Amino acid sequence: MARQADTSDTRRIERAAGRVPTLAEAFAADPGRSARFSFAHGHMWVDFSMQHLTDELLSALVDLARAVGVEEKRDAMLRGDTVNVTEGRKVLHTALRSGDSTEEARLAAAQTKRAAELAERLRADPGVRAVVNIGIGGSDLGPVMAHRALRAHRDGPECRFVSNIDPADLDDALRGLDPTTTVFVVASKTFTTQETMHNAERAREWVRSVLGDAWATRFVATTAEPARAAQWGVPADQCLEFWDWVGGRFSLASVIGFPVMMAVGPARFAELLAGMRSMDTHFAATPLATNIPVLHALVAWVNTTVFSRPTCAVVPYSHDLARLPAYLQQLVMESNGKSVGIDGHEVMHQTSPVIWGDAGTNGQHAFFQLLHQGTRVVPVDFIGVREPTGSDGAAHDMLVVNMIAQAAALALGRPHAEEPHRVFPGNRPSTTILLDDLSPRSLGEIIAMYEHSTAVQGWLFGINSFDQFGVELGKELATALLPEVQGGQPGPGTSATRAAVHRYRSR
Ligand code: F6P
Repeated sequence: MARQADTSDTRRIERAAGRVPTLAEAFAADPGRSARFSFAHGHMWVDFSMQHLTDELLSALVDLARAVGVEEKRDAMLRGDTVNVTEGRKVLHTALRSGDSTEEARLAAAQTKRAAELAERLRADPGVRAVVNIGIGGSDLGPVMAHRALRAHRDGPECRFVSNIDPADLDDALRGLDPTTTVFVVASKTFTTQETMHNAERAREWVRSVLGDAWATRFVATTAEPARAAQWGVPADQCLEFWDWVGGRFSLASVIGFPVMMAVGPARFAELLAGMRSMDTHFAATPLATNIPVLHALVAWVNTTVFSRPTCAVVPYSHDLARLPAYLQQLVMESNGKSVGIDGHEVMHQTSPVIWGDAGTNGQHAFFQLLHQGTRVVPVDFIGVREPTGSDGAAHDMLVVNMIAQAAALALGRPHAEEPHRVFPGNRPSTTILLDDLSPRSLGEIIAMYEHSTAVQGWLFGINSFDQFGVELGKELATALLPEVQGGQPGPGTSATRAAVHRYRSR
C-alpha cells in the first residue's frame, strides 16, 4: 500500500484540521491573518488566509512535506535524476528556461534560438499572414492559453489553433485563409497522435492543391521526433526539436511555444521564460514554509485528502486568462489523476482534485450559485490582475472588486438570514492570486507556480505525476473499433458498443 506519509504525520494533521475555526472566527480573532498567510514573489501575490489554515495546521503540513521528502524530490527533479520512473525519463522542463550549462539546458537554448530565428524570419515576411497550430493536449492547451493571455502584447500574424479530430475544427480554422500566405505548425511530441496527424494531412493537401511540391515551405514542425517530421516532409531547417524529458503538459517553454513566439515575438517569449525561471528559482531555493508552489500544493492536498473536497474551481477574473482552467485541467489531472502509487501499489487516499472553472465574472452567472449554497464545499483559486489589460479602467475596477467580493462572500456567508433559502453558510475556502499585470513575465511566473504545485501534489500523493498511461486504453479501443464503424468486422466492447455503432451507421 502506498502511503502519503508516515501515519503519525497524518494523525497530527487530522488533529490540527479538527481544530480549525470557521473563517469568520479566524478573521475576527486575528486582524493580521491575511498578512500572515500571504506571500509574494516577483509580480505575484498569493493570499491563502481564506483557506482553512491555522499556524498549527500549516506547520504540520510543512512537516509533512519535509517527511515525504519534497525537498529531496524537488532537488532530484531539478538535477535531472530519472524521477519519471515508470517511463525511465528525466523531468527537466525547468532546463528549458534555466540558461544553465547542463547538456539539456544547452540543447534547449539552441532550439529556442533556432525557433526565434525562424519566428523573426516569418514575422518579417509580408507573405505570411496567418499561422495555424495543429496539435492537441499539451501541444495545444499551453500555446492557446498563453496566446490568449498575451493578447495585449501581440504584434505578429494572426494565430489560429486546431486540435480536435472533429473536421469542424480545421474547417473553421481555414475559413478565410489563403494557402499561399498561411504557415502551419504541426505540433506533436510523438508525431504520431491520430488527431494531429490527420488534421496535418488535410492541411497539407489543402496547401498542396495550390502550391504543389512547394507545400513544404509553409510547414513547421515542433516535435521530439524530428526524423518522423522530416520523413513526413517538413524541411529540416523548419523542424524544431524538444525531448522526451519534457512532458507534453509541461512543454509550453519548449518549441511548442512557437506559435506564441510568432504572435508576440521572440523578445516577449524570452520574458515569459524569464518569469518561469524566476519562479523556478523561488521553488528551488525558498524554505518550504514560505515557498509559494509548495504552500499551494499543501493547500490542495489538505483540501482533497483531509477535508474531503474532491474538486477545485479555478476562476480567473481576466478574460485574457479564460483558457487557464482548461490548461490546468490537463496539467493537474493528467499528472495526478492516478490511483497507483509510485511504488506500484494502490493508493489508499484521494489523489488529484477535479479542476474546473471559467472566467469571472461570467462564472458568477453560471456556477457560483453552487459555490455559495450547494451541498459540496468547492475550494476556489481566484486569479486577478492589478493592471487593466483592456481600455476601460472603470470596468476593470468592477471586474476586480467582484473577485474580492466573491472571496469574502464565500468566506463569511450570511448565515443568519430570516428565510432559509437566503442563507449563505459561508466558511467556504479560497485562495486569491493577484498578478501585478498580465505581462509575459507575470504569466511565466504563474504557469511555473502551477507546474511546481502539480509536482509537489504528486509527491504528497505518493504517485508519479509524469506519466499518463490512463489516456491509452480509449485510444486503443478507438483504433480497434474504426473498422466496425466503417462497415467491417465487430470490434471490442459490449452490446452497448454494438448498439452505438449500429445507431451511428444507420444515419
Ligand atoms: O492526451 C495524451 C497525450 O499524450 C498528452 O500527454 C499530450 O500532450 C497529447 O497527447 C499530445 O501528444 P503529442 O504532442 O505527442 O501529439
